[in-house]
Amino acid sequence: MTDLPWGTNQNLTDEEFYNRESELTNIKNLLQSTGQGHAPDLLLTGIRGVGKTVFLKKLKREMDNEYLVVYIDFSKSKCYQKNQMSIIGLMEHIFKEFIKESKSKGLNTLDKQIEKYFKSNDFKIKEFIQIDKIPMPVFSKETNEEKLMDFVMDLPEKIYEKNQDKIKGVLIFIDEFQLIRELNDYKDSFLWKLRSYIQNQRNVGYVFSGSMSMQNKLISKITSQNGAFGGRMISIHLNPFEKETVRNYLSEKAPYIIFSDDGFDRFYKCTSGTPSYVNIFAALLPINQRLDDNAIKIQFDKKIQAISSHLINIWTRLSFREQTIIIILLEKPLRRVDIANEFGISTGSLSNYLNNLQNQGLIIQNNGLYEISEPILKRWLELEFNEKGIYPYRNI
Ligand SMILES: Nc1ncnc2c1ncn2[C@@H]1O[C@H](COP(=O)(O)OP(=O)(O)OP(=O)(O)O)[C@@H](O)[C@H]1O
Ligand SMILES: [Mg+2]
Repeated sequence: MTDLPWGTNQNLTDEEFYNRESELTNIKNLLQSTGQGHAPDLLLTGIRGVGKTVFLKKLKREMDNEYLVVYIDFSKSKCYQKNQMSIIGLMEHIFKEFIKESKSKGLNTLDKQIEKYFKSNDFKIKEFIQIDKIPMPVFSKETNEEKLMDFVMDLPEKIYEKNQDKIKGVLIFIDEFQLIRELNDYKDSFLWKLRSYIQNQRNVGYVFSGSMSMQNKLISKITSQNGAFGGRMISIHLNPFEKETVRNYLSEKAPYIIFSDDGFDRFYKCTSGTPSYVNIFAALLPINQRLDDNAIKIQFDKKIQAISSHLINIWTRLSFREQTIIIILLEKPLRRVDIANEFGISTGSLSNYLNNLQNQGLIIQNNGLYEISEPILKRWLELEFNEKGIYPYRNI
C-alpha cells in the first residue's frame, strides 16, 4: 500500500494535494480583483478526474482568510438527488450553502431582515428544517421563481456590504455546474438570468466548474461571444499531469513502487496522466518489486475493474442504444451517417443519443468522426468481451 489519496477522495489535505502551483497563482490573481470591486466570473474546465473539485477546495482553503468562500456542489442539491431539477430547488440549495458558510465564519447573516422579507413577499415556504441548528426554508412549488432568484442571487452582495469590516469580498464556487443541463427548456433562460444578476455584483466573484469537455455545447453557450456571458467569462483549463510531474509525484509519494523506464512509460500511457487514475492504479501496484512494461500491462488488466469503477457506473446507466453506439465505436471512429446505418435509422434520430454520450464525456467528435474518449472504458469493454465472449450490456 502507499500513502496516495484514493482516486475518488474529494477532500485532499495540503500534503496530499500535489502540483498546480501555476494554476493556483493564476486563478488567485484573477480572484483577488474581487477585493478591489472588480469581481471576475470564471469557468474551470477539465476532463473527468483531472482534479477540478480538489482544486476548488484547495483554492477555498487558501482564500478563506480574506474572503467569504462558498463551495456549492449542484450534485448535492436535494432537487438533483430526487431527480427533480428545478430553478427553485437550485436556489434553495445555494441559499442553504451560502447561509451555512456565512454563519460558520461568524458573519452577520441578516436573519431578521430575511425573515421579514419572506413574510412581506409572501414566499411560499413549506417548512423549515434544521441544518447545523440553523432553520432552513423549504420552498414550495408555488413559490414565485423570479422573486426567489432575485432574493438568493442578490443576497451575497448584501451580506458583503454588512460585513465589509471582516471580508474583502465573496467568492462563490459552483461545482457540477453541467447539471443545469437537466433544467431542459429552462436551461438557456437560467443562464441569461444568472448573468444579469452576477454581472453587476462588484464584490462577488463566481467560479463555475464541472465535468465539461472543451467541445461541450454548454461551454460555448456560456463563454462564446454570443453565449449568455457574451465573451466576458474567463476560462481556465486544468490539464492532466505531464509525464515528468507523474514521475516526480510517485517517486516522492510512493517511493516503494519501482518502475523500469518502459514500465513507467506504460504506466503513464495507461493513466494518461489523469490524477484520479494515477492514484488508483498506483495504489494497487505491488511494491518493492521492479515493474517493467509487461508487468504493468498485466497489472492494468488485472485491476481494470477498480480503475474503471466510476465509468462502469456510468456505463450501467446508459440506454441499450447508447451502449451499442459505444460498442460500435470500439473498432474505429465513425461518421454520424455510418453509425446511423448500423442501426438502419436516420441521422436525425441519433442526435439525442450522441449528445448524451458527448455530455457525459464518453465520446468526442473529431473532424466529423465520433470516437470513444475514455480509453479505460474501451479497455474494460475489450477485456470483458475477451473473457466472456459477450459485451456487458445489462447486469454486471
Ligand atoms: N492536485 C492533485 N494532487 C493529488 N491528487 C489529485 C490532484 N488532483 C486530483 N487528484 C486525484 O484525482 C482524484 C479526482 O479529483 P477530482 O474529484 O477533483 O476530479 P474532478 O475533475 O472534479 O472530476 P469530476 O469531473 O469527475 O468531478 C482525487 O480524488 C485525487 O485522488
Ligand atoms: Mg468534481
